[in-house]
Amino acid sequence: MAEAMIEFQSVTKQYQGGQPAVDGLSMSIDKGAITVFVGPSGCGKTTSLRMINRMVEPTSGTITVAGKDVSNEPAAQLRRSMGYVMQSSGLMPHRSVLDNIATVPRLNGVSKAAARKRAQELLDVVGLASVLGKRYPSQLSGGQQQRVGVARALAADPPVLLMDEPFSAVDPVVRDELQRELLRLQRELAKTIVFVTHDIDEATVLGDKVAVFAVGGKLAQYAAPEEILRAPANDFVASFVGRDRGFRHLAFNAADAVPVHPVKTVDASQLGASSGEWALVLDGDSRPMGWASPRDGAGLVPGGSLFRRGDTLRRALDAALSSPSGLGVVVDDGGRLAGVLKAEEVLALIEKTRHNREDAP
Ligand SMILES: Nc1ncnc2c1ncn2[C@@H]1O[C@H](COP(=O)(O)OP(=O)(O)O)[C@@H](O)[C@H]1O
Ligand SMILES: [Mg+2]
Repeated sequence: MAEAMIEFQSVTKQYQGGQPAVDGLSMSIDKGAITVFVGPSGCGKTTSLRMINRMVEPTSGTITVAGKDVSNEPAAQLRRSMGYVMQSSGLMPHRSVLDNIATVPRLNGVSKAAARKRAQELLDVVGLASVLGKRYPSQLSGGQQQRVGVARALAADPPVLLMDEPFSAVDPVVRDELQRELLRLQRELAKTIVFVTHDIDEATVLGDKVAVFAVGGKLAQYAAPEEILRAPANDFVASFVGRDRGFRHLAFNAADAVPVHPVKTVDASQLGASSGEWALVLDGDSRPMGWASPRDGAGLVPGGSLFRRGDTLRRALDAALSSPSGLGVVVDDGGRLAGVLKAEEVLALIEKTRHNREDAP
């Protein structure tokens, strides 16, 4: 059995005069894993998360982190000992990106030079170019700001990361990228991550375990994502898990069997010369930039989501359906073109997978 890092024992939170925001929560959160709290708005996810680092105090019950009752730890110290990432990046607008990342190490007494050096390294860890360190938060895109938020949370190398809807405000393509990056990071860092989202897809993609919260601050189901999808504990979970459940299992099937085809490519200088078929526009490094339309030579048409080798069927379907040409772009680990997927072939494989599942005992 996995080792517990955080334990809730009969934890209730009642704000002044209201119904309980969290009602008798008991659960054990595994060390070194991603645990996702998911549920509709107002069901107590943020409150539960914030009780872990004492941003909110429980009305009754006990929370322990690494075996210690958090109510015995000085709140300020406890807060600094855990990384915290929220939906709005929460960056200080008048400080450079590097200084933002260095905040907690500075509070912990690390020298300015050492904290900045570490901040510089963390930019790379979260996939940001080092030149961005000198910029101010407003000079970054939403996705870049969230990466900085993650870097800042990692700066003091805390064993626990608390993340409250960190990717909810960015567009779906960037969200996809950030989710992928978080999973990559986690493979190296093996932190104990508690991640809040209202999005069941995000929960099942990221979570080693998923806790579904119901209205009234009750834990409705707590299990591995596959189990929640396959065997919802009650009607509430079943309806929350949603109408297109039929597609959700795709997240667990590799798309290795989908054929990858060659595609016509052009470089940006050839845009506008219409060629009668869709052509993929590549940069000098063979990275896809977008599409050239077969007809009007309208310039660069933005591409859809990219598919990396080894990704799931769900991502294959996303790539094919989000592409203006109907061809999903496959890239290698370096982001260079590997070929294209055809939507009809992805769908055929999905059909086959579904039948196999239904035939299984
Ligand atoms: N500071 C607060 N004071 C009073 N009520 C609050 C406060 N914070 C949250 N609540 C209430 O507690 C319930 C749970 O809120 P929250 O934990 O933010 O849910 P979620 O993150 O799942 O959307 C809601 O009914 C909300 O209105
Ligand atoms: Mg919330």
